[in-house]
Amino acid sequence: MSKLLEMARNYEREAAGKTGDQKRPVFHFSNSVGWMNDPNGFSEYKGEHHLFFQYYPYATQWNSMHWGHARSRDFIRWEYLPAALAPDCAYDNFGVFSGSAIEDGDRQVLIYTGVEEKILENGEKSIRQNQCIAIGDGIDYQKLEQNPVVSADMLPEGSSREDFRDPKMWKEDGRYYMVAGSRSGDGSGQIALFYADTLGEWRFAGILDRSENKCGKMWECPDFYPLADKQILMISPQEMEAEGLEFHSGNNTAFLIGSYEKREFRFKRENIQSVDYGLDFYAPQTMLTADGRRVMIGWMQSWDNPIYPDGQPWSGMMTIPRELSLRNGRVCQRPVRELDAYRKNKVSYQDVCMEKEISLDGIEGRCMDLELRLKGGSCGKDRIRLASDGRLYSEIVYDREEQVLTFDRTHSGLKKDTISTRSMKAESINGVLDLRILLDRYSVEIFVNGGERVMTSLIYTPYTAAQISFAGSKKTYLDVTKYEVYA
Ligand code: FRU
Repeated sequence: MSKLLEMARNYEREAAGKTGDQKRPVFHFSNSVGWMNDPNGFSEYKGEHHLFFQYYPYATQWNSMHWGHARSRDFIRWEYLPAALAPDCAYDNFGVFSGSAIEDGDRQVLIYTGVEEKILENGEKSIRQNQCIAIGDGIDYQKLEQNPVVSADMLPEGSSREDFRDPKMWKEDGRYYMVAGSRSGDGSGQIALFYADTLGEWRFAGILDRSENKCGKMWECPDFYPLADKQILMISPQEMEAEGLEFHSGNNTAFLIGSYEKREFRFKRENIQSVDYGLDFYAPQTMLTADGRRVMIGWMQSWDNPIYPDGQPWSGMMTIPRELSLRNGRVCQRPVRELDAYRKNKVSYQDVCMEKEISLDGIEGRCMDLELRLKGGSCGKDRIRLASDGRLYSEIVYDREEQVLTFDRTHSGLKKDTISTRSMKAESINGVLDLRILLDRYSVEIFVNGGERVMTSLIYTPYTAAQISFAGSKKTYLDVTKYEVYA
């Protein structure tokens, strides 16, 4: 084991005793210590789910990237494992960036972006991003001697040599495939496809899709998978300009929905949909479970507006893992069914009039799975206040006329001038809007109409603010079911 990896493992082992569990999210994954961003290597290995992540153990800010590691049997309870990779080779000295993992016979294969920084003879700094492989047993990994196995020189002419990253690998009919993000000659994103018969020898197959400066600049963290009768190319574009309520400015995430001609390596995009409409969601990745579910997890944070309290020894959280499905041409998401086993103490009310602001006995708390049906007409606004103590609160507002749902954390106790509201389309069906809200210590995930649209945001309101209230018009009625969630 390299000195750097040993140091990281020793550090996290010592830190683990000190950070404790006390103020952690209850049913969302958070890193044990230091900084965490993208999920990496989300996959099955020997009957368990593995989650790796972009990681800097020594501070709660982004720095020289390692891979952290955890595993779970049910996506809810996670066991921390020792750091898997450190930036300990010349070709990854600047960081082991995002990538993926597969189970390959007995072994677990990781593929990641090695970032190399060099000072050239003329004194200039050179950065190169190339794809590298490490093979292991679920705990320890050996980097391949042939690394890097895919270099940016294999991309079409004009492609960037600096921005080429985040390989997502799969194996099909005995062959390895991977997609990776890159920048084409026009400076904007493209997704390259490669294949290999052995892990050390890869070939460029083609470009699956490109931004052409219409859908942001660099495309990060691609994933490519079939879903029902469609093929999904999932991307995280940088530097987008806002587009209606579909995309906000800056870093976004998108499902490119289309069809795939495998033999010609040709992807045809038919539609584009935002993955998540909230304030804090990026770099999602999927895995296929043994029982055939496509499950996605994302990083719950924003690069442009990161919020986490000073002094907290860890700074990253992941979303609840979500099962994907296709309905009426849209990719829908629902929390993994494993969460159901952690729901306790059901409290339920039917047909409650929302004319006056109301609170309901037992509908309160900070860790819950809340199912709501808002039944009303075509005008007025429905409001749900949660994580409230009267002074501090976060609010979900449904505008019936506009058919728009807004999340607003302006009064959640933020002490910085951070973006605090985001809105998305939310269509009621015959006046009925279905919401499922997962509320954990620091996060609010809102699933609308069976996960047709999802909104993920962070709040850092003191844990004692636990009231919930509802308000609408005299024509609005509410069905509500609340479960506490313990994990
Ligand atoms: C996305 C990203 C990836 C990169 C990683 C570095 O959030 O920028 O493209 O591999 O983070 O930590």
